Amino acid sequence: MRYLTIALPKGRLLEPILKIFAEAGVTAEGVSEDSRCLVFTREELGIRFVLAKPADIPTYVEYGAADLGVVGKDVLLEAGKDLPELLDLGVGGCRIVAAVPAGSGVTDVTQLETGSRIATKFPRIARSYFNQRGLRVEIVKLNGSIELAPGVGLAEAIVDLVDTGRTLRENGLVAVNNIAYVTTRLVVNRSSYKEEHERIAGIVGRLRAVSPVSQAARQPAATPASVAQAASMGPSQVTRLAPAAPAAQGAPVTPVSQMAQKAVGANA
Ligand code: PRP
Repeated sequence: MRYLTIALPKGRLLEPILKIFAEAGVTAEGVSEDSRCLVFTREELGIRFVLAKPADIPTYVEYGAADLGVVGKDVLLEAGKDLPELLDLGVGGCRIVAAVPAGSGVTDVTQLETGSRIATKFPRIARSYFNQRGLRVEIVKLNGSIELAPGVGLAEAIVDLVDTGRTLRENGLVAVNNIAYVTTRLVVNRSSYKEEHERIAGIVGRLRAVSPVSQAARQPAATPASVAQAASMGPSQVTRLAPAAPAAQGAPVTPVSQMAQKAVGANA
């Protein structure tokens, strides 16, 4: 029996993800953010855990270097990979929003001037969102601290993740449009899913039973057929399916703890 390899993301989501895996009886012993070792083998489970940068996890799974991967929907949308999602683990819930300086008078991105600059670490998601609305803007790719950009004249608006809303507030910004709700997903390599369907389905079943969004009615068990269907859905379609209702100017942002149920709706 070969090892099933599961790629887990380094960073702040690692701990809640490990907790779900432990509750599901798929304990990733020894895996820790502080460890310098990146591969952890559980002989008795036939599972190997690997720790990777979140943005790289879709690549490991796409190439089959990992059979399964745990990764945020934001990363999946941005990566634009054709990876079937098996489960919403319901952690890391937050929103991707468009935000502008408070007091700018802009209450919707359609009011931005043509050629406005939009700073983001999600250029694919941002471009797709603005293109779909026929808005001609310049997307400026940054790697972090996105909320800094409008205040120093780099951009008129940003597209970024919002969790508690504190970073927006403290930098004088308000969310004007919701682009997507994101949570953490379990994704699979398509060949692995065919070849190791029984073992993978077993792990998915255990995780589903303990996942915060485990209501069976909302998450029907994935089958090879449904996975094939999901796989045929391109990233642009997924983006189109994400909710895009305007956010009320200065509206309070829902914290992570209250996002999990809402986020299920984005898992269409
Ligand atoms: C993320 C995100 C926002 C912030 C949102 O940044 O990009 O900046 O968290 O959280 P809040 O709504 O609770 O304030 P992260 O901490 O990952 O750092 P980065 O800006 O360097 O990407």
